[in-house]
Amino acid sequence: MPRICKLSTRHCRGRNLAGAAFILALILSAATSPLSAQSGSLEASDTADSGDRRAKDGERLFTTETFGGNGRTCQTCHSAQTGTISPQDARERLSKDYRDSLFLFDGSDDGKGNGFSRMLDEATILIEIPLPPTVRMGDDPKARSVVLARGVPTTLNTPALDTVFMLDGREPDLPTQALHAIERHAQATRRIPQPHLLRIAEFEKSDEFFSSPTLRRYAQGGSAPALPFGRTISEIRGRRFFIDAPLTGDNKTGACAVCHSGPMLNQTNQFLPLPVPAGTRFQTVNVSERDVRNRKRPFIFTNADGTETTVWTPDPGRALITGVIDGDPNADGAPFFTSLNSFKIPTLWGVKNTAPYFHDNSVMSLEELVDHYAEFLLAPLPPPFTTILTKQDKADIVAYLKLLN
Ligand code: HEC
Ligand code: HEC
Repeated sequence: MPRICKLSTRHCRGRNLAGAAFILALILSAATSPLSAQSGSLEASDTADSGDRRAKDGERLFTTETFGGNGRTCQTCHSAQTGTISPQDARERLSKDYRDSLFLFDGSDDGKGNGFSRMLDEATILIEIPLPPTVRMGDDPKARSVVLARGVPTTLNTPALDTVFMLDGREPDLPTQALHAIERHAQATRRIPQPHLLRIAEFEKSDEFFSSPTLRRYAQGGSAPALPFGRTISEIRGRRFFIDAPLTGDNKTGACAVCHSGPMLNQTNQFLPLPVPAGTRFQTVNVSERDVRNRKRPFIFTNADGTETTVWTPDPGRALITGVIDGDPNADGAPFFTSLNSFKIPTLWGVKNTAPYFHDNSVMSLEELVDHYAEFLLAPLPPPFTTILTKQDKADIVAYLKLLN
C-alpha cells in the first residue's frame, strides 16, 4: 500500500509534535483578524436584507466586483463552468484578449506582469505563504515568505460540502478566504465591507456551485451521494478500487478508498495501513516529491529538539502551516501524521471536468494521473502493502473516475 511517509523512515516515526508555535500562531491570527472577531455580529445585522437581494449581491460580488483592484473578480480564476481554469482556458482567453486580467501579477511568469508561459502551460498562480517561525530557506536565509506555483482548486462542491479550505487547509472559513483572495489576487485598494464577504460565501453555496444535482441535494440536506454502480464492464471493475473495504490479497479493492472515502471521497478510512485515524484530510501522494518541473528548493526546519532538517521540495504543502515535518496538531489529535509535502485530499466528485490535477497541476489528464498512482502504489514497501495496477486496471479506474459526477 501507499508509502505515506516519503523522505526517510525518520520522518515516519509516530510522534505528536503538537508545536507550541503552531498553537501560538493560531491564537495570534485569531486575535489579529478583525473579520473572525466580528463575523458573528455581522451575520445578525445582515439578515435584515431580503434573502433574494443578498443572493443577487453575492453573485455580483463574485462575478463582477473588482474592489478597486487590478480588474480581477473571483470569476477570473473560478469559471462558471468548472470552478477553475485550465491551460486550454488560458490559451483561449489570451487569443481573445491579451490584456485579460488572468495574466497579470500572480498569473504572470515573474509575478510582476511579465510573461505568460506558465499560465499557458500549466495554469498555476503564484501564491505567497509566510514561513512559520520554525522554517527558513537554505538559499535565502533572510526570506520570511516563499512563493509557490499552485493550481486553482474548483469552487464547485467544496464551499458547501467541505470544511477544509485551500490546498494546505490554511483558511478557517469562506469569508476569511474571500477577504484574502480579494486582497491578494485582486490587489484591492478599497476597504472591503464585511457583509460583502458573507454574501460571497453565501453565493458560493448556491445552486450553481455543484457538479451535479445529487451533490446539490446532499448539501441541502438530502442523502449522501453513493458510488455509482457502473454500466460497462470496465466501469464495474473500476468501482472496486473505491469501495470502503479492508485491503487484502492484491490490495486492489479499496486501494483508492483508503484516502478517498466518506461521502465526498476526500478523507482517509479505517483501512489505511498506517496509524492514521479515519477521517483525516492531509496526505502526500508523491507529487512534491516527484517534482516534475524541477523547482525544488532547500527548506530548513528546526525540530522540537533543536536539531535541523533540510528538505528539498518545490512545495512543502501542509508543513508550511504546521511548521513541522511530522505531525499535524490540527488533525484531530492524530498521533501519526506527515505534514511534509502533504495536501488536502480533494473530493473526486466532478473530477473529470477539472484537469489538470494535483496541487501543482502537474498531471494533465486522468490517464496521466493513474500512471502516477501506479508508481505511487508500488512504493518500495514490503509486498503486503503494494498494489500493482495493470494496464486494464488503469483503464478501469479512469472509466470509473469519469462516472463520478
Ligand atoms: C488569480 C486567481 C484567483 C482569483 C482571482 C481567486 N482565486 Fe480562489 N483560489 C485560487 C488559487 C490558486 C487557490 C488555491 C491556493 C492554495 O491553496 O494555496 C484558490 C482557492 C480558493 C478556494 C478554496 C477551494 C478549496 O478547494 O479549498 C475558494 C473557496 C476560493 N478560492 C474562492 C475565491 C473567491 C471567493 C475569490 C474572489 C473573492 C477568489 N477565489 C479569487 C485562485 C484565485
Ligand atoms: C495516501 C492517500 C491517497 C491514496 C491512496 C489515493 N489518493 Fe488520490 N489524492 C490524495 C491526495 C493527498 C491528493 C492531492 C495531492 C496533491 O495535490 O499533491 C489526491 C489527488 C487525487 C486526484 C486529483 C484531484 C484534483 O482535483 O486535482 C485524483 C483524481 C485522485 N487523487 C484519484 C485517486 C485514485 C484514482 C486513487 C487510487 C488509484 C487515489 N487517488 C489514491 C490522496 C490519496
